[in-house]
Amino acid sequence: MTDRYAVVGNPVAHSRSPWIHAAFARQSGQDLSYGLQQAEIGQFAAHVDGLRQQGYRGLNVTVPFKLDAIAYARERGDQISARARMAGAANTLKFEDGRVWADNTDGIGLVQDITRRMGVSLRERRVTILGAGGATRGVVLPLIEAGVASLVIANRTLDKARGLAESFAGTGQVPVTARALSQVWLADCDVLINATSSGLSADGADLLARLPQQPSGPDAARPVLAYDMVYGAQPTAFMAWARGQGIGQVCDGLGMLVEQAAEAFQWWRGLRPDADAVFRDLRAQLQAAAPAS
Ligand code: ATR
Repeated sequence: MTDRYAVVGNPVAHSRSPWIHAAFARQSGQDLSYGLQQAEIGQFAAHVDGLRQQGYRGLNVTVPFKLDAIAYARERGDQISARARMAGAANTLKFEDGRVWADNTDGIGLVQDITRRMGVSLRERRVTILGAGGATRGVVLPLIEAGVASLVIANRTLDKARGLAESFAGTGQVPVTARALSQVWLADCDVLINATSSGLSADGADLLARLPQQPSGPDAARPVLAYDMVYGAQPTAFMAWARGQGIGQVCDGLGMLVEQAAEAFQWWRGLRPDADAVFRDLRAQLQAAAPAS
């Protein structure tokens, strides 16, 4: 019998997960289907109960249900991974032997994309993350586990960054500190990650305007990588800015999307898909769909 999976969200029609998982399944000869499930707000648990009754084996969970997904596993007294617990959110559920398993593969997806595809080691790196929302919370523990030297969380609302930094204080031996956006200096970090939602709207420039003027010149130190967690057909405002600042490697979050899916697929199916091939196809699709500039 074909094993059934889906992504649950609201809205969900735009999700690329069905395409990605269908490609993984084709590659590896796995007999599975992967669909789109739009749940009503406030109805996540009932919706998931229904899918489990239909025999679904696992789900990806996207906006706005990642908190509901962890609550779903918690209320049933089932298994929640440490990274999902620290993220306060789950993006992947697995149903096995009548039990629910919750995980969060976003952070490990980011780490895999940076270290494998971009070829940038995170070990002993000073990392600065812009933003202190759910996207940041989801990646802090995997970054710490990747061996970073320090983590700075910089946010428009400083108190939010402070609260988040405190909740990770004492995790490993890695210092996690908070900072205002006006105190983000490129010379102070090796890897700069944009986890704000500002790149999603036309006001990406608003985030950049909050950063200070950086010292320039041939001796000015720069991060080795600037990573935007959002992606699109065109480079984001953050990416264009980072290039303008002379940062050598700059990329968007398309690879993170593929890698978090690959982690979920491996967890469900016990097989590692070829994420690079799927990444290349997806990038080509995005570019083909882009309006000529
Ligand atoms: P997500 O789950 O995507 O992280 P979120 O929890 O709403 O979404 O968090 C959005 C993040 O983007 C926050 O850190 C937010 O800053 P504030 O905490 O100050 O609101 C940040 N953000 C959104 N728009 C921004 C902008 N124009 N400039 C700077 N930061 C912005």
